[in-house]
Amino acid sequence: MTTKYTPTIATEIIQEYSAAPEMLVQILHAFVARFAYLSDEAIRQISLELNLSRADVHGVVSFYHDFRTEPPGEHIVKICVAESCQAMGSRELTAQVEEKLGIKIKETTDDGQVTLEPVYCLGNCACSPAIMIDEKVYGRVDASKLDGLIEKCGG
Ligand code: FES
Repeated sequence: MTTKYTPTIATEIIQEYSAAPEMLVQILHAFVARFAYLSDEAIRQISLELNLSRADVHGVVSFYHDFRTEPPGEHIVKICVAESCQAMGSRELTAQVEEKLGIKIKETTDDGQVTLEPVYCLGNCACSPAIMIDEKVYGRVDASKLDGLIEKCGG
């Protein structure tokens, strides 16, 4: 469950990590877990409180695929694009969802229902290809199973 960003909550999170610049990645993860994404305001506050330049923080944010900078949709669909899942067809699954929803990976549908994201291994390689929808992992996903799951998300 995510909460709306406030500077007070943001400061509390930063203080949990002693406002230490070397904890930047962990702080960014904590922000995304709490606020769902990193707003410009959040990045500004993190850079000020850690005494880092905004460019430094942006550099780290853009390096990691986990750090989204836009509010996500109601449902987050993550398709594993790591080796085992790719070998078992995750590229085709991605293309299928993109086509069905009319968005590209890392985008959100216009109605705000679904955000499509890549993920690099869900620890479910034995049941490739794997996807995750709203924190729930599904294995051995084929085209028809995927269709059903996306429809449940309102897609
Ligand atoms: S490679 Fe997809 S779950 Fe591990």
